Amino acid sequence: MGSFGTMARLSCSIKQGQKDNYMQTTPENLISAFGRNLYNTLLPASMRQRLDNAPIVQGIRESFKDEAAEIPYVLLEERHIANLRVVLNRDALLQALPEQAVVAEIGVASGDFSKRILRHAKPSRLHLIDAWDDDRYHSGLEQVVTDKLDGEIESGRVSIHRGYSTTVLTTFPDNYFDWVYLDTDHTYETTRDELKLLSQKVKPGGIIAGHDYITGDWKMRNRYGVVEAVNEFCVENNWELVYTTYETHRHLSFSIREMGY
Ligand SMILES: C[S@@+](CC[C@H](N)C(=O)[O-])C[C@H]1O[C@@H](n2cnc3c(N)ncnc32)[C@H](O)[C@@H]1O
Repeated sequence: MGSFGTMARLSCSIKQGQKDNYMQTTPENLISAFGRNLYNTLLPASMRQRLDNAPIVQGIRESFKDEAAEIPYVLLEERHIANLRVVLNRDALLQALPEQAVVAEIGVASGDFSKRILRHAKPSRLHLIDAWDDDRYHSGLEQVVTDKLDGEIESGRVSIHRGYSTTVLTTFPDNYFDWVYLDTDHTYETTRDELKLLSQKVKPGGIIAGHDYITGDWKMRNRYGVVEAVNEFCVENNWELVYTTYETHRHLSFSIREMGY
């Protein structure tokens, strides 16, 4: 987990409003820039060439190249963003989505965003789907969420469904959700499969929203595939972007809908 090569689970630990510090001159960044300068200016060209051809350097290059190459790169066209509106943050996005709706949050963690969905979007039904199956997002979180939302669960407004997104989603009827918010492992493969399934599970004209519409979390050394999966889905299925958020920390959210609604 956490390596460039493995694209594992993700981190969505940066909370709303937390200061972005990706571009700061951290000691790591300074050492890396210093090393690059030394390499380029002090080493003679012949030695640089020998080093460049060394198996270990080739191996490092390959591991970076392969990871990007595994993810399809599909370009959006103007029509995919013709109706796109930018909103400030996730709360503004929730306020823009339909109220009194049948909603799912897929990837719940400890339920903090679930509470914000209830507050800002006022859904009539909220389904919370999560596997809670690793060290960070462990099984104890299901109880944390249950405690946090006990009144809403008792009233039947909120339900918890434990399991993998692509398994749990098949248990819902087609055309069931008004909108969903997707926030699971952020890999290309998972996101691609989730979008395919969700497009059957949302009503015609329904919205699929989700988190981390970015290419990676470089602080955590995680390459995501959300942008590629979402854009590919839009191009192949005639869907369009209707909202993106615009937070300073750049953990942006997206919302897409089938064209023509
Ligand atoms: C980034 S957190 C969700 C954060 C939450 N939406 C929020 O904004 O506070 C990701 C969650 O997705 C869950 N998850 C990851 N992959 C999953 C999958 N394939 N199916 C279901 N849940 C998954 C993890 O257990 C974790 O709780």
